[in-house]
Amino acid sequence: MKITSYGHACFGIEINGVHIVIDPFITGNPQASNIDLDSVNADYILVTHAHQDHILDVEALAKKTNALLISNYEIVMHFGEKGVKGHPVNHGGTFTTEHFTAKYVNAVHTSSFPDGTYGGQPGGFVITAGDKSLYVAGDTALTMDMKLIPMTTNLTASILPIGDNFTMGVDDAVIATEFVECNKVIGCHYNTFPPIEIDTEKAKEKFSNKEKELILIEIGDSINL
Ligand code: NI
Ligand code: MN
Repeated sequence: MKITSYGHACFGIEINGVHIVIDPFITGNPQASNIDLDSVNADYILVTHAHQDHILDVEALAKKTNALLISNYEIVMHFGEKGVKGHPVNHGGTFTTEHFTAKYVNAVHTSSFPDGTYGGQPGGFVITAGDKSLYVAGDTALTMDMKLIPMTTNLTASILPIGDNFTMGVDDAVIATEFVECNKVIGCHYNTFPPIEIDTEKAKEKFSNKEKELILIEIGDSINL
């Protein structure tokens, strides 16, 4: 499982040549100006909720790549009207392909489209392929529901928001790491806008003090799980 950062909460996940893109928000992110949307591969686009900083490039990317959109019912219907093909899920449900599974799990957040219309309830995904599982929390507060995940899944890593203000911050993300019983964290949703600016060195230190690992992938860079 290869994970590429496209900035903010947008990641590419490559599994045996199959490309998943999470929460495409590239053209609206000045920090991701080195990423050319036309160079991004997608077979599947997974969207956690309807906020602008998670959906901005869904339509363009889906139409360019013919990717299948996996998200909650309301988001899939919204983009379906624009000609994007999709597959709706709801909380607790799992989308299954021969390459991976993606379970839509609970998140504590809100989910309206930029025009204020209802974007369904927000979620996260647990993506499993072979013996690797990745928890993509989406925008969320720390929640006891995270404790449900290790009851069924041994996680390899988690992508957690750490920027505070709109989501949990670093201290709660450290606790989330305990809830999901996985010490390897890839941070997201920080330093994109002034309200979510953090001290990244201090954040890494808070994780390492608890014998956990916080990985901050440079935009455009990849890691292998
Ligand atoms: Ni949000
Ligand atoms: Mn967000």
